Amino acid sequence: MPKLRIEGGNSLCGVIDVQGAKNSILPIMAAALLAEGECVIENCPRISDADAAIAILETLGASVRRRGNRVWIDCRSPLNYEIPDDLMRKMRSSVIFLGALLARCGKAVISFPGGCELGPRPIDLHLAAFEKMGVRIEEDFGCLSCDAQHLTGCEIPLSFPSVGATENIMLAAVRAKGTTVITNAAREPEIEDLQAFLNEMGGDVRGAGTGTVIIHGKDSLHGCSHRVIPDRIVTATYLCAVAATRGNALLRKTRPDHNAALLAALRQSGCEIEVCEDLIRIQCDSLRASRPIRTMPYPGFPTDAQAPFMGLMCVAKGSTVFVETIFENRYRHIAELCRMGAKITPEGKVAVVEGVSRLRGAPVEATDLRGGAALMIAALAAEGTTYLSEIHHIDRGYEDPEGVLTQLGASVFREE
Ligand code: UD1
Repeated sequence: MPKLRIEGGNSLCGVIDVQGAKNSILPIMAAALLAEGECVIENCPRISDADAAIAILETLGASVRRRGNRVWIDCRSPLNYEIPDDLMRKMRSSVIFLGALLARCGKAVISFPGGCELGPRPIDLHLAAFEKMGVRIEEDFGCLSCDAQHLTGCEIPLSFPSVGATENIMLAAVRAKGTTVITNAAREPEIEDLQAFLNEMGGDVRGAGTGTVIIHGKDSLHGCSHRVIPDRIVTATYLCAVAATRGNALLRKTRPDHNAALLAALRQSGCEIEVCEDLIRIQCDSLRASRPIRTMPYPGFPTDAQAPFMGLMCVAKGSTVFVETIFENRYRHIAELCRMGAKITPEGKVAVVEGVSRLRGAPVEATDLRGGAALMIAALAAEGTTYLSEIHHIDRGYEDPEGVLTQLGASVFREE
C-alpha cells in the first residue's frame, strides 16, 4: 500500500493552482445522465472519487472519455437503472445518482448506502422528498427499488438544509412534471454549480445559493459544456498547510468568496490574507488560537474544513474549541494527531486543542479524507519524518497532493 513520507519543517512558499471541486463533480456527472447529447466537463479533478463516478456512469451504459481535466459524457444510448452494490459501497455519496436515474429511466435500483467513516449517513430526507414527488419506494434486504413513472413537482420543505438531498431533488425535479419548490434548501456553492449545469442543459432552475430553489420540469435536456468551480476545501487545506509552516503563498484559480468563514478564522489567528478576484495570498509569521469553531451549513464554517483547521490549531499559541455539529463521527483524526504530540481533548461533539510549540513526525494513518488532510498539515509542521498510510482516503479528494506540496517547497514523497 502506498504511503506518504513527509519530512516536516520546511516553510511552504510559492504559487499553486487549485483543482476543481470534488463536491461539484459528483452531482454534475450524475446530471449528465439527463442529457440527450454529449456533456463536456472542464476542470474535473483527477481524484479517485471522480474515477468511481465514471465507473458508475459506465456501468449504467454511458460512454465516457477523459483527457487530463476534461471529461466527455455521452448518455444517448439506453441506460441501465441499477447500480451494483460494490460501486455504491465504494462511494457513499453515489446516492446522488438516484434522483438522476429516476428522472432519466423512471426507475432505479440501488443498495442502501448505510454508514461510512463519518458515522451513520441517513438518506431519509432524500426518500421522503421522492415519495412526495410520486416515487414508489420498496426496501428489501438493504436494496432500494424505486418506481418513478409519475414524477411530479411539488413543495418540499427540508427539515435540515441537506446538501445531498437538495441536489438529489433538483436532479429529479428538472425532468418532473410541473414545478418543484425546495425550501430550507442547502446554500452551498456546489448547489449553484449544479444549477448552472442544469440550466446550460436547457433546464429551468432558480434560487440556488438561497434557501429556496425553484425548478420547472422540462421534457428534455441537451448536452452542454461546463467548467466546474474551484474546490473550496482543497483551498482551505493548502491555506492551512501554508499557515502551519509559517509560509507565504499565492493560491490561484480559486474563489475567495466561497471561503469567507475559513478566511475569517485564519485572519483572526494572525494570518495575513489578501484576496483579489480568483487569487488568495496568505502569509503567516506567528499563529495564535482561533475563536471557537462551530461547523455549520454554508455559509458557516464547513465541516470538511474542521479537520484541516484542527491540524493547524495544533501548532497555534493558545487553546481552540471545536464543535462539530454536522457529523457524529468526525474526530477520528484526533488520536492520530496526538501520536504526533498534539494536545487535544475530545468530548462528544466538542474538542479542545491546546496548541504546542512543536509536533514530531510519527507513523500515522489517514482515518478519512479530511482527517488525512489534517495529518498531512501536522506532518508538514512537525519536526522529523512522518509516514502517513491509508492515503487512498486522501486520493479520493486531492489531486496529486505530493506534487502540489513539492511545488511549495515541501519534502513529500509517495512510497510503496
Ligand atoms: C455534507 C456537508 C457538505 C460536505 C459533504 C461532504 C453540510 C450541511 N453538508 O454533505 O458541506 O461537502 O458532507 O463531506 O455541512 N441527514 C439526515 N438525513 C438525510 C440527509 C442528511 O439526517 O436524508 C443528516 C446527516 O446525517 C448529517 C447532516 O444531515 O448529519 C448533513 O447531511 P448532508 O448535508 O446531506 O450531507 P452531505 O450531502 O453528505
